[in-house]
Amino acid sequence: MSETQTISVPLAEHLLRCIGCGARIDGAEAAEDFRCRECGNLFEVEYPGFLPCSDKSTIPSGYAPGDGTRRWKQFWNDRRLSRDPLDHSGVWRFRELLPFLKDYRNVVTLEEGNTPLYRLPRCAERLGMEHLFAKHQGMNPTGSFKDTGMTAALSVAKERGFTWVACASTGNTSASMAAYAARAGMRSLVLIPEGKVAWGKLSQSLDYGAVTCQLKTDFDGCVSVLSELVRRAPVYLLNSVNPYRLEGQKTAGIELAEAMDWKVPDHLIVPGGNLANSSALGKGFLELLALQHIDRLPRISVIQAEGANPLFLSWTQHQGNEFAAVEAHTRATAIRIGNPASWQKAVGILRATGGWCEQVSEQEIALAKAEIGAEGVGCEPASAVTLAGLKKLKAQGHIGKQETVVLLLTGHTLKDPEYTIDLHRGKLLTAEETAAMPSTQRAELEAMASAPKVLEPTVDAVMRVLDQAVQGRMVRG
Ligand code: F0G
Repeated sequence: MSETQTISVPLAEHLLRCIGCGARIDGAEAAEDFRCRECGNLFEVEYPGFLPCSDKSTIPSGYAPGDGTRRWKQFWNDRRLSRDPLDHSGVWRFRELLPFLKDYRNVVTLEEGNTPLYRLPRCAERLGMEHLFAKHQGMNPTGSFKDTGMTAALSVAKERGFTWVACASTGNTSASMAAYAARAGMRSLVLIPEGKVAWGKLSQSLDYGAVTCQLKTDFDGCVSVLSELVRRAPVYLLNSVNPYRLEGQKTAGIELAEAMDWKVPDHLIVPGGNLANSSALGKGFLELLALQHIDRLPRISVIQAEGANPLFLSWTQHQGNEFAAVEAHTRATAIRIGNPASWQKAVGILRATGGWCEQVSEQEIALAKAEIGAEGVGCEPASAVTLAGLKKLKAQGHIGKQETVVLLLTGHTLKDPEYTIDLHRGKLLTAEETAAMPSTQRAELEAMASAPKVLEPTVDAVMRVLDQAVQGRMVRG
């Protein structure tokens, strides 16, 4: 007997609440571009009488504090042993906390989630910290955190009878959407900026059979085209303006709490691009707190690349009250976004959790990526901003030595092998960028870089390289 038969999913009603004017609408009535018809802002999913959203509402009887929460935690944990594919998913294992489908047979899953929480001992030591972890969302089926949101929103598309789905993307959303659409037997349309998407991601979109259009513009330009297109063609929009995506993505926070025995870390540090994921995680923690599954919130901080830093500018110059788009440039192509759709949601989460927003340079990203790689963990460049940002927050005194910090690594290292190879061959940064680095940082990066050696096929040649490497390590200690 499957666990789903033991405790059924509570049939909570769900609504979409506009974060701008507070208008509430039925989920099926949302506009094609998921913008509020009254004020143009974005929606979040709300479960009236069941789960609280931004404003307070009641907690259902099944979720009483004390024994109730222990029972639910045990139940979610035990589901890992069940044979039901829904229970193998780190998203749907917590389906009571995202009850927006009418029929759970519509779920499209690749058994996403349940991602590892790794210690980063060498990074921690260099930083003089004791408790540093990485929650690796790159260990999802298509190699990025997008899968947790995609299973949620694409299941809605299926339930509502769509046959086509579409997204504009810097590469990971499209890879994920293409895979889940293929699983569901649906068609997918991908709009990506030409020349600005890492090969790993583009190849996935082709592999999974998406109709892939490389537009001669940037990500923000792709979003503009798609917003118009969804009004003209019967395609279901799967960008993160779709609030169901965020319901899936919030489960990374729930898994993290679970992995830490429901004691949340002091800090969670996330990369910021279109700025949806930070708010999704925050929503998850706020709901867990309201349901008394946890007793406090982690501070959630968002890190952007210096060349794609509109939230950083808004936060540091206008306390998040005003916002201006920028023209984005960074080699961390996943977060090369100048006009992020969800900036207000991100500001809301920075405020609610007492987090910070920082920016980091291309050089800092490169070094942090090499350091995460040297832990045997690895990640794509956009994820490495978290470690680079942590260094800054620590130096500014925002994060203490004893505090527990979790970096959210959003994408797998194989997503962007070109970046990694250039980095280790010393070809990533320009001469000016290298010259502009502080000397200690430059020395650290040089020490981490390990370019492949092309040799004659003799034992002596390999022995010489090995000797040099052993000596090099001894010098480095
Ligand atoms: N990290 C990675 C690896 C990403 O792919 C993205 C976003 C982010 C961080 C930023 O997350 O947008 O929620 O702030 N990638 C999107 C895409 C935009 O199209 O794949 P965010």
